[in-house]
Amino acid sequence: MKFEKTLQSLAIAAMLGAPMILNAEHHKCGPKCSGYEQKCGAKCGAKCGAKCGAKCGAKIKRPHGYKAAYVSSSDNIQKGEELFNSTALSTNGMACASCHSELKAYGASFTDDFPHKVNMASNSYGVPSIYLDEMIQVCMRGPMESKILKWGSGEMNNLTVFMQEEHKRFKNQ
Ligand code: HEC
Repeated sequence: MKFEKTLQSLAIAAMLGAPMILNAEHHKCGPKCSGYEQKCGAKCGAKCGAKCGAKCGAKIKRPHGYKAAYVSSSDNIQKGEELFNSTALSTNGMACASCHSELKAYGASFTDDFPHKVNMASNSYGVPSIYLDEMIQVCMRGPMESKILKWGSGEMNNLTVFMQEEHKRFKNQ
């Protein structure tokens, strides 16, 4: 438990530190290129700005014409919770729960209905207003250092419906 706590604070510290370091390296790119998308940031030349933001954003945004028709049964929610607790989703040993257990580490914006502004998505991906499923993809690519979940997959469905429950709990706490 203590170890997990340390890991969590280290990870959060690293995440909060990352944009600053990147900003120093790619200061000409502007804030939209900083953050997790190091590769995107590195590619950005002096002219990057909003263009890179859009490019990064495209990686986590719903595909064109995507129908977010998620099925929320108690079985799906339970499977979503298992995913939330699973380190298998990441490449770095983290689970969503490593940061977000007991409703921790969500921004204050988590009380708002989706889509809304989340600083991480807006700063690192140039996405000013984000849906819940897209935000899951941001945390998959960023903190989890992994690939995005397949759009329309069972995993996407189950993790999203579990996160809808987290969202309700966060609003009502
Ligand atoms: C290393 C820690 C860490 C891990 C692991 C992590 N997140 Fe996050 N997540 C954050 C932080 C920090 C924020 C707040 C970003 C902000 O407010 O700018 C956040 C924000 C969010 C939000 C948006 C809350 C809002 O303000 O609307 C959602 C939803 C979310 N995470 C889901 C997930 C899911 C699902 C996973 C696993 C796939 C995950 N996170 C993994 C750190 C993490």
